[in-house]
Amino acid sequence: MSIQTVATTPFAGQLPGTSGLRKKVAVFQQPHYLENFVQALFDVLHGNAPAAGQTLVLGGDGRFHNRAAVQTILKMAAARGYGKVLVGQGGILSTPATSAVIRRRGASGGIILSASHNPGGPDGDFGIKYNATNGGPAPEKLTQAIYERTQTLGQYRLSDAADIPLDTLGTHVMDGMAIEVIDPVADYAAVQRELFDFAAIRRLFASGFRLRYDAMWAVGGPYAKAIIEGELGAPAGTVVNAEPKEDFGGLHPDPNPAYADDLIAHLMAPDAPDMGAASDGDADRNMILGRGFIVSPSDSLAVLTAHATKVPGYARGLAGVARSMPTSTAADRVAKALGIACYETPTGWKFFGNLLDDGKITLCGEESYGTGSNHVREKDGLWAVLFWLNLVAATGQSVEQMVRGLWAEHGRCVYSRHDYDGIPTEKANALMAELRAQLPSLGGQTVEGQRIAWADDFAYTDPVDGSVSQKQGVRVVLEDSSRVVFRLSGTGTEGATLRVYLERHEPDAARHDVPAQEALAPLVTLARTLARIEHHTGMAQPTVMT
Ligand code: G1P
Ligand code: ZN
Repeated sequence: MSIQTVATTPFAGQLPGTSGLRKKVAVFQQPHYLENFVQALFDVLHGNAPAAGQTLVLGGDGRFHNRAAVQTILKMAAARGYGKVLVGQGGILSTPATSAVIRRRGASGGIILSASHNPGGPDGDFGIKYNATNGGPAPEKLTQAIYERTQTLGQYRLSDAADIPLDTLGTHVMDGMAIEVIDPVADYAAVQRELFDFAAIRRLFASGFRLRYDAMWAVGGPYAKAIIEGELGAPAGTVVNAEPKEDFGGLHPDPNPAYADDLIAHLMAPDAPDMGAASDGDADRNMILGRGFIVSPSDSLAVLTAHATKVPGYARGLAGVARSMPTSTAADRVAKALGIACYETPTGWKFFGNLLDDGKITLCGEESYGTGSNHVREKDGLWAVLFWLNLVAATGQSVEQMVRGLWAEHGRCVYSRHDYDGIPTEKANALMAELRAQLPSLGGQTVEGQRIAWADDFAYTDPVDGSVSQKQGVRVVLEDSSRVVFRLSGTGTEGATLRVYLERHEPDAARHDVPAQEALAPLVTLARTLARIEHHTGMAQPTVMT
């Protein structure tokens, strides 16, 4: 075995976004494409020095191209002189499990192969991202430096060793580097066991409580099977669509009302189970349902915050809570009642990292079906499900009762997100520019019969490192505190997506059952008029409403 040096040419456009580098599989299959990115990453991390003595964690969500990419990265890590790579069996590691392994094993970082909830298969998407030694996504200055390095790269290095058998646990040596094929679930399960009352959840299942967990043919399956059916004794068949498939069964592994329609149908049926749940492609997102009842992610964060001390891992109380700006203010209301801080961050999990590392918050979440805590540095789908199960076991209340309890105490934050997908990028940029240009004059205006109190473009100063993030979304807030938020997605791979977030606080319990789209209709009209959505996009209706 020896180390080869391969000449390459830089690729334009390898800009990693907030969630790493995401492209079509065909792009990643181009010769040298993945290699360029990995070499740039290693160069930025280690300069000219070898990564001697360092441990790297490696795995992915099992989508098409995962195995080939794992083999390539192992050979490049060996060439870079890493001491050890911990790779998940079958090349599998969910995003939260990677974070857990990095933290528990004291690794220097980890590489996650995933395009999250984006479709997989040969025509789908692939992605790669790096997590640092705290287990969290690389900070922007690192991703920017990687990008800059990809622009000048002239060569990369890799071992010419044979592929490693990934399907059996064991250790191997490649050009002096140790490779350990690890159980992808073990470290992750150990973390959950320390947080939740497994005995109480076991009793809940033993008493006949029924859960339907839809793993969406993605990487959450093996974790949910091992923990929920294996350790917690839920009956076989509780976890469905559990086997990770390279193309996620041709479906869109995103747990929300648009793509988890099969799960919703089961929970709305006359013989529905007590609770429903789903996780996405890389198992960091979650969706929670009660019997005949859908829980909004913003409400989920608020319920977990309100009841956290009933869970052993959070029994001593929460330092604080954080939500992304477009997420509803339900968690703020609970935090206020508890007397703890609530932080409002820009969209994207990385903004929670400093707050968690600095001990300012314990729980955090986003409206986009992401919830998590200081146990790892990623959102964690199965963690959220275990949290809900623990609360059902501890309170004896149903999922619906807990959400209704939240509404009764704090009012209901009626909420919806409307997405307009596949807009040509220039048109989406023009829409946002026009909206931003109006900002100075919006306060005090009445539009579509609704009086605007104030409007701005959200900017965030990180309370830990003082860094400032500008232009994080246009907020239009009415006098009754209702609001509309506009921003463009940063994670798409084709064209632009406009996200319109709608929130209205309803204190009147008699109106809590008005369907969200009906309650929010005046705000939708306001949003369409203000941003001239149809004029700019040609779309009279959103593509997806969640
Ligand atoms: C979306 C979500 C955001 C989440 C991100 C990664 O980003 O809106 O909350 O952190 O995916 O899962 P967006 O496409 O809106 O930039
Ligand atoms: Zn994900």
